[in-house]
Amino acid sequence: MNRIKIPIILVNFKTYAEATGKNAVRLSKTAEEVSQETGVNISVAPQLADLKSVCDTVSIPVFAQHIDPILPGSSTGHVLLESVKEAGAIGTLINHSERRLKLSAIEAIITRTRDANMISVVCTNNAAVSEATAALKPDIVSLEPPELIGTGIPVSKSRPEVVTETVALVRHVNPCVVTLCGAGITKGEDVAAALKLGTKGVLVASGIVKAKDPRKVFMEFAEAVLSTE
Ligand code: G3P
Repeated sequence: MNRIKIPIILVNFKTYAEATGKNAVRLSKTAEEVSQETGVNISVAPQLADLKSVCDTVSIPVFAQHIDPILPGSSTGHVLLESVKEAGAIGTLINHSERRLKLSAIEAIITRTRDANMISVVCTNNAAVSEATAALKPDIVSLEPPELIGTGIPVSKSRPEVVTETVALVRHVNPCVVTLCGAGITKGEDVAAALKLGTKGVLVASGIVKAKDPRKVFMEFAEAVLSTE
């Protein structure tokens, strides 16, 4: 985990048109500019087809949105760790609520990422699943209650007790695992609230990607991080 700096603002581009193809590169450049101006770690997770162009353009950490628990060979249509690593990704999201996996697959992917010296960010839907996931020794657990995703209702303000419970349970199981939270984060105060609850950052999508002025929101998020330090 010394490959990325925390706190971290990790932006999942999902499959939003505003963050696809050339737009993915443009948004990543904005993230890089704000990160360089403020010193706050901003990372991005573009779609698979955009990984290489983003990684070739910016120097901020770039994550894949998903990989499959496969080895090189005959797995047509799957995502191979080695291909995203060679494209320049330093880690991957795992088990996003829009790309759920079986427990055995989550464990296999965490092991693959560890062996490849890549960073694993496992998404979880509640505190109990976060606790169980921490036992698999990922680098990062990111709590994202699915019912809040894309709503603009921030998990850090509407469900603070779930966030604090997750932070405590993950820390108890494995203090080396970093906890993030996401879902509905759209304002600097949502980011500050997440950090005050004990997380080390946020996983965000629509609040940045769909914003009229993403740079302004990036800046607001970065200032919120700085204000809690
Ligand atoms: O992975 C981030 C995510 O699912 C949260 O989405 O749009 O609520 O920030 P959003």
